[in-house]
Amino acid sequence: MVWRWSVIEPEAIEHSRATTPQFHDWLALLDGEPVGAGSCSLNPGMEEDTAAFAVACVLPHARGQGVGTAIYRQVSAHARGLGKSQLMTWGYEDDAGGVAFAELHGFAVVKRNRGLRLVLDGCPRPTVDLPEDIAITTLADSPELARGVWETASEAMPDIPHYAVPMSAGSLEEFAGRSFAGPKHIPEATFIAVRDGEVVGYAQLAWMSRAAGIADHAMLAVRRAWRGRGIAKALKARQITWALDNGLSELRTGNDERNASARAVNANFAYTPLPEQLGYRGPLLVGE
Ligand SMILES: CC(C)(COP(=O)(O)OP(=O)(O)OC[C@H]1O[C@@H](n2cnc3c(N)ncnc32)[C@H](O)[C@@H]1OP(=O)(O)O)[C@@H](O)C(=O)NCCC(=O)NCCS
Repeated sequence: MVWRWSVIEPEAIEHSRATTPQFHDWLALLDGEPVGAGSCSLNPGMEEDTAAFAVACVLPHARGQGVGTAIYRQVSAHARGLGKSQLMTWGYEDDAGGVAFAELHGFAVVKRNRGLRLVLDGCPRPTVDLPEDIAITTLADSPELARGVWETASEAMPDIPHYAVPMSAGSLEEFAGRSFAGPKHIPEATFIAVRDGEVVGYAQLAWMSRAAGIADHAMLAVRRAWRGRGIAKALKARQITWALDNGLSELRTGNDERNASARAVNANFAYTPLPEQLGYRGPLLVGE
């Protein structure tokens, strides 16, 4: 499924079904033909939020016939069953129908992600300039550093501009289940910056579409005491060289418009803009 610039492969949906007990998804049929899909679950790391996380999409040719409203009703009922009173969802600024649907139902934009893509064909090979006491390894080569990666994520995730409640890495077990498992995980492209055996930063690529050679910059984090020394820039350069060496076609990422540090890191490379991703928050649908 291609959801604007986010590609969601069937294996990733199967993984969510298998590992997230609250996750439920539905296929919308119009005259027996599949024309839309919806899903609803708790947002990982944000279980205390009063909103459940939902996705609803309807193919362009089937819009305007009540399919979106039917999906909205279904995900609202599921969210209510999870004890939630609101929904959080994503839309895209260039999807006029989606924007109009969200506004009609009282959804407000609470987050804006600036989407970026790096087309690798013809992309210059960046140099990986590390501070001299720092080395980069991978989770594939150094699986014993998993705990240090989790500690780094635990420190860095609350610093990512977000909405409602701060992001959290959760327990080591929860984090490992989300970040070190499943069909999107690439241990050899999970890069770890180390100083004297201690993890000081990490940068993860995850498959968006393995078949199309598209990976997503899933996370970039540097421990607070080590920021501002070029470690994130070096980690990102290392990700790009890996993608070039492994024949990928494209890297994608999306950062909150308020995340000045992440956007400053990206400005060092030849990314080009994708349509802005909008985080919406709104009410559950009540009644028939
Ligand atoms: C984003 C983050 C990884 C940057 O780490 P870092 O090691 O400090 O970054 P670097 O030292 O490599 O800096 C690279 C560039 O960003 C700039 N920069 C870093 N922090 C900045 C800030 N707060 N405001 C503006 N620019 C900033 C640096 O000046 C540098 O610019 P230059 O390349 O023009 O010289 C770190 O701030 C972090 O862990 N934040 C929380 C997690 C997060 O938001 N991750 C990204 C979303 S997944």
